[in-house]
Amino acid sequence: MAAVRLVCLAVVLVLALGQALETSKVKDVPVLVRTLKNLSRGPPQQVVTKRANVQEKWITQKLDNFDETNTETYQMRYLINDEFQTEGSPIFIYLGGEWEIEQSMVSGGHWYDMAQEHNGVLVYTEHRYYGQSIPTSTMSTANLKYLHVKQALADVVKCIELLKSENPQLANSKVLLAGGSYSATMVVWFKRLYPDLIVGGWASSAPLLAKVDFTEYKEVVGRAFLELGGQKCYDRIQNGIAELESMFANKRGAEARAMLRLCNSFDDQNDLDLWSLFGSISNVFSGVAQYQSTGDIEYYCDYLLSFRDDATAIANFVYWGWGMPSCIDATYSSTVEYYLWGVDHFDAGRPWYYQTCNEYGWYQSSGSSNQPFGTKFPATLYTTLCGDVFSSQYGNAQINSNAAQTNEDFGGMEPGVENIYMTHGALDPWNPMGHGVAEGATLIANASHCSDFGSIRSTDSAELRASKEKLAELVRQWLA
Ligand SMILES: *[C@@H]1O[C@H](CO)[C@@H](O)[C@H](O)[C@H]1NC(C)=O
Ligand SMILES: *[C@@H]1O[C@H](CO)[C@@H](O)[C@H](O)[C@H]1NC(C)=O
Repeated sequence: MAAVRLVCLAVVLVLALGQALETSKVKDVPVLVRTLKNLSRGPPQQVVTKRANVQEKWITQKLDNFDETNTETYQMRYLINDEFQTEGSPIFIYLGGEWEIEQSMVSGGHWYDMAQEHNGVLVYTEHRYYGQSIPTSTMSTANLKYLHVKQALADVVKCIELLKSENPQLANSKVLLAGGSYSATMVVWFKRLYPDLIVGGWASSAPLLAKVDFTEYKEVVGRAFLELGGQKCYDRIQNGIAELESMFANKRGAEARAMLRLCNSFDDQNDLDLWSLFGSISNVFSGVAQYQSTGDIEYYCDYLLSFRDDATAIANFVYWGWGMPSCIDATYSSTVEYYLWGVDHFDAGRPWYYQTCNEYGWYQSSGSSNQPFGTKFPATLYTTLCGDVFSSQYGNAQINSNAAQTNEDFGGMEPGVENIYMTHGALDPWNPMGHGVAEGATLIANASHCSDFGSIRSTDSAELRASKEKLAELVRQWLA
């Protein structure tokens, strides 16, 4: 099995190399941006067993839901699958987060199965500023002032009102929400702000606490490699990254730059460049751990352990994770330049980065010593980027006060909501920001981020299955 996978990886390497050459004319994405975007991709797509009739629809939304005097509007997209619709159907809404919506979420998986059981109508809403629901002509910092979770939650209220008013069969329907990751957070906060509009909700992997220096994240990534990949793999990562750090610190920078295939513009005397590089290295491991399913980590660990020395293993692994361009652009200045380019070229990287500066932080730093990814990517890298990309007003103090404001608005770890079922993978690096077992959440052993959306199936672990069944029972109660 492992051998076959290694061959596959080699084939992928060659194919991707070809692709990198072909697409070298489009704008190169610096590796820090690339790896951050990878981490905010949406939940895994669902397996769809039969073709569903999903319709794409648009709602006219107010650009500013909280300013009566502002009459500007934009078009928000949603997907609807009404194949089970009947008089009084409950409405099963899956909330979009910082990604483009797609059909599988309303065509298959556990949410779909539960909708089928209750003759529900399935809806998937797109979050403003993502996918095709773009409210402003550019993503300038001034225009991004309409991007806020409170605006997005108010959009969902309008969407529910419209579904009910436009469709007589749904006029008195009960509504349920589901979401994954940031959109799971939205489920919880929706219930807090508008408790009477929904009867219940499912929040898979919901971070609740805004925190600028999110040091716990890399600890759990490390733990995933340790528990699923073994001590040797963990040591390889820790030693390899430590070796690369020491090469830069001890006048072997040229050798390290060559090993990592860095472009000539990289300046190893510049802290911001070095931080961007080591942040991007660790993010490749995060990308694997955050969405791992059974066997993934074992597979990558086999690959890492197939090299003779630690640093070479890391260099080859991250080169694959970075998409194998002709040279690796890890400079801080390219990172800034890319996000500025995003003002006029739509790309979800910029609006999500803005939300982190403005609302949450959640910078996955090297601040903990209890993780294997070294010491060279402090939260300061990310907060400095906020200032350089959006506005000098985003200094450290401002970003900390923004996160504190979010916790004040939504209650942090104590959101004070009822009838919301929260689930987490026990090896999901996001889980320290959400509820644990003590607060009533379910933690699923060995599982990663948003890994419980699939239909109940024979390959589910006993715990995963039990959690899905518990949710199905709760939904029956909420709809009774
Ligand atoms: C978690 O994964 C480890 C390593 O593969 C395995 O030994 C263990 O049985 C798994 N635990 C559960 C509850 O599935
Ligand atoms: C994200 O990264 C993981 C591993 O680093 C890779 O398997 C996956 O294909 C990447 N996905 C995207 C959309 O870039």
